[in-house]
Amino acid sequence: MSIFNAKRNQVQVVLGTQWGDEGKGKIVDLLSEKADVVARYQGGPNAGHTVEFNGGKFILHQIPTGILREKVVCYIGNGLVVHPESLLDEIQALESKGVSVIPRLFISPNTHLILPFHRLIDRASEDAVNGEKIGTTGRGIGPAYADKANRTGLRVGDLFENPNWEQKIIQMVASKNVLLEKIYQVEAVDPQKTVETLKTFRSKIEPCVDDIAWRLRTDIRNGKSVIVEGAQGTLLDIDFGTYPFVTSSNTTVGGMCTGLGIGPRSIDKIIGLVKAYTTRVGNGPFPTELKGDLGERIRIIGGEFGATTGRPRRCGWFDAMVLRHAVQINDIDCLAITKLDVLDQLSEIQICVGYRLDGKMLTHFPSCATVLDRVEPVYETLPGWVESVTSIRKFGKLPRHARQYIKRIAQLAEKPVEIISVGPNRDSTILL
Ligand code: GDP
Ligand code: IMO
Ligand code: MG
Repeated sequence: MSIFNAKRNQVQVVLGTQWGDEGKGKIVDLLSEKADVVARYQGGPNAGHTVEFNGGKFILHQIPTGILREKVVCYIGNGLVVHPESLLDEIQALESKGVSVIPRLFISPNTHLILPFHRLIDRASEDAVNGEKIGTTGRGIGPAYADKANRTGLRVGDLFENPNWEQKIIQMVASKNVLLEKIYQVEAVDPQKTVETLKTFRSKIEPCVDDIAWRLRTDIRNGKSVIVEGAQGTLLDIDFGTYPFVTSSNTTVGGMCTGLGIGPRSIDKIIGLVKAYTTRVGNGPFPTELKGDLGERIRIIGGEFGATTGRPRRCGWFDAMVLRHAVQINDIDCLAITKLDVLDQLSEIQICVGYRLDGKMLTHFPSCATVLDRVEPVYETLPGWVESVTSIRKFGKLPRHARQYIKRIAQLAEKPVEIISVGPNRDSTILL
């Protein structure tokens, strides 16, 4: 069965199995070729999804990656937190490169907005931490989701349906300014400027606001092919990740139901994205991290610098404990392995096959970050292939040791590998 078989796999979810940046942008773009709809369900401008083709490069933050395929319609679900100014900038940047956005982008009225004080609070609260900081992207994600949970947030729909929204903003800014000035001792936010920015946002975004849950139900009933694009990765999930070193949303598959308004039975296929090694931006436990020259070498070869913040990503060996955890939590059907080419030059490659804690092997992934911080990875060594795989398009043509590496990952995950990415370009891909 082909991965592109829209009838059998009408609704496909693509999500990260590690700490983000697994190459979701590239794989969603690949699958979007045959899709009608691409929808995001969580996160916000903390995401940076890269797509490269025809010598050009796009980095998507809040707009689903499918926007780069001209026949695809894109949805921003209620589960996201959206930053108005950067969304307008992103639309403008795409349109200046000839990508039509407004007629193909729809946003839920229930989507929460990231306001200027959310960003300031995000940064100021990180600066105020005495111990280890989370290392957030500084995009206001946590404070915006906190206001949502606290029932004090502002939603896209408020700008259209709540006649008192301007007053609400002025009150919100006044109370947050107390926090900013008195507690964090940073600059206050200008309430009037915030209102003006939102008025501009409202006028530009008006044609895009629609009931996403209803649209999706209709699309599915009409046989449309839907790709659901996850952001971040399983280990950054607020419940199943390495809390508190996580993001503030459910990145895992359950987030899709609450973040878009469709039930789990609508999902036909769940594709887990796996980088051929592991990376992490920000702080928190990372058992297979390579802190020396080898980690640096992988960072340089893999171009491992954040697509959103430009921060160097921490690099390490592939970790099967992490992948197995992600397979279980997300009910993953198959894997897409990316960045295999980055390992081309290594003569030996390590795979973490288990964790030892206080002399005993763990049976499953620890739920507590302080425990994860203490585990000792147990490695298996595999031979490298020491030749370039970038131009290869068939699994059988890969060097024997590269095939062995892929097969071992599939075996450890107990899931088939259906896509292998061997370069950043759209066409640098092997479909199995
Ligand atoms: P995402 O957040 O999961 O979409 O991933 P990012 O875009 O943040 O990071 C992945 C990076 O790896 C981007 O720069 C991609 O262009 C690049 N990339 C994706 N797949 C491959 C691959 O197979 N090989 C190489 N060398 N680069 C890749
Ligand atoms: P994509 O979608 C990698 C990380 C941050 C930090 C933690 C919390 O491109 O894979 P936040 O700003 O969300 O409150 O930061 O989560 N983080 C990501 N790391 N890729 C991402 O997105 C990330 N989005 C957030 O570095 O450790
Ligand atoms: Mg990214």
